[in-house]
Amino acid sequence: MAKAEIGLIGLGVMGSNLALNIAEKGHRIAVFNRTTARTHEFAAEAGPLRDMVVPCDTIEDLVAAIEAPRPIIIMTMAGKPVDEQIAALRPVLAANDIIIDAGNANFRDTMRRFSELDGSGLTFIGMGVSGGEEGARHGPSIMVGGTEASWKRIESVLVDISAKYKGEPCAAWLGPNGAGHFVKTIHNGIEYADMQMIAEIYGILRDGLGFSAAECSEIFNTWNKGRLESYLIEISGIVLGATDPISGKPMVDMIVDKAGQKGTGKWSAIEAQNMGVPATGIEAAVAARSLSSFKAQRETAETILGLPAAGQIKSLDRGQLIADLELALLAGKIGAYAQGFAVLAEASKEFGWNLPMPTIARIWRAGCIIRSQFLDDITSAFRAAPDAANLVITPAFAALVKETDGALRRTVSVAALNGLAVPALASALGYFDSYRRGRGTANLIQAQRDFFGAHGFDRVDGLDKHHGPWGSGLAEFS
Ligand SMILES: NC(=O)c1ccc[n+]([C@@H]2O[C@H](COP(=O)([O-])OP(=O)(O)OC[C@H]3O[C@@H](n4cnc5c(N)ncnc54)[C@H](OP(=O)(O)O)[C@@H]3O)[C@@H](O)[C@H]2O)c1
Repeated sequence: MAKAEIGLIGLGVMGSNLALNIAEKGHRIAVFNRTTARTHEFAAEAGPLRDMVVPCDTIEDLVAAIEAPRPIIIMTMAGKPVDEQIAALRPVLAANDIIIDAGNANFRDTMRRFSELDGSGLTFIGMGVSGGEEGARHGPSIMVGGTEASWKRIESVLVDISAKYKGEPCAAWLGPNGAGHFVKTIHNGIEYADMQMIAEIYGILRDGLGFSAAECSEIFNTWNKGRLESYLIEISGIVLGATDPISGKPMVDMIVDKAGQKGTGKWSAIEAQNMGVPATGIEAAVAARSLSSFKAQRETAETILGLPAAGQIKSLDRGQLIADLELALLAGKIGAYAQGFAVLAEASKEFGWNLPMPTIARIWRAGCIIRSQFLDDITSAFRAAPDAANLVITPAFAALVKETDGALRRTVSVAALNGLAVPALASALGYFDSYRRGRGTANLIQAQRDFFGAHGFDRVDGLDKHHGPWGSGLAEFS
């Protein structure tokens, strides 16, 4: 049998679908899974693609089945399993072979793995893959970090298997070492914010307006034909319209309101904090998922504190309110994406990655979970103003912020007056209002810091006097 062009370790949800995608695009693939039975089960399930798949029972068999120099994708759970697989591969691989970690690695682990493999003769690539099971099978968005030369060696396979947006592939080399996994992490952080804001709007519809799941579904389905057109709005409409086959009730009403998280949202918020870049939408979304898990405490608190009356919302013009909610969601998205891209810009400087912002927006337009029409607008905005300090001050997005401002303001106010929690949408409003105000209130914070800690401050008149007329600062004015 002819040798395989590429190898893959880890035939779980993502790995098996990615392997079938690779095989379907005409690239013979050798596969290995820790649990051997799964490898054979996978080969049996490959159907018409069976001839393009080489099942291997050991790492040695896997390596022997691939044409050198060998590209091998690791698609296991992130963390220790990846280190274990790299350790298993090292003694059996040869110079110029490429190890590609395609899981959701923390980019700091990816940076460490690059240094550990430095000088080994092996090449390492950290690759973010988004799109879930369906994306992996039929076309994910692929974010590659490593040397440009190593990207060139695997580019044709990755371009073949990636999603396409109007014919353009959603796969790209984004920079050295941890760049690909960092971009994937921020993608997931934005995804958290996007999902949270959609859930907040659903909360206003359900708890404020008393809409049924089916009525909410109709609204999301309508919005998906307009400016909010996106995968997340589309699936929200679908899941809200689904019926539970067991109880006959709407499926969403049978799901416990505790959200899970695997860590990428939290990593985004932590890295943003580390770099001093506000990412309040992502932070609010991570905190909201954490708070959702305190189900028992929330139920107790409801009995003790009660719920604020949400009567006033019912007297509002529903048509106007729903139109506001649509625009508020658009405004909230602008805030979250602007923050996500600002974090990317700072990381690019800090790690010397030279991240290409228009390319990042371009490869998120299809294949990934946050894919949307909106990302095409971001691509155009960054192409027109590549050096913009923030997305919201590019001409196209400044106009959008102004257009949606009133709707966001009214939505957050209505939610606040009716006791409906909208932490991510409110964070977007707070972000816009802070970012657009040339004179803020941090002068008072600086005065307080100087008062209790003699931290000093800059003066608006530029004078070289850095302490106030209090405490030890008096000396400077004497
Ligand atoms: N699911 C998604 O939507 C999605 C989307 C994007 C990225 N990802 C990322 O993709 C990666 C894989 O996710 P998944 O959803 O495919 O996971 P999964 O279905 O749970 O599969 C996990 C795979 O990892 C293998 N594995 C686990 N521990 C191992 C170890 N110590 N040594 C060797 N192999 C080990 C498992 O092998 P066994 O069969 O032997 O247990 C299995 O093949 C993760 O990093 C995940 O975060 C997932």
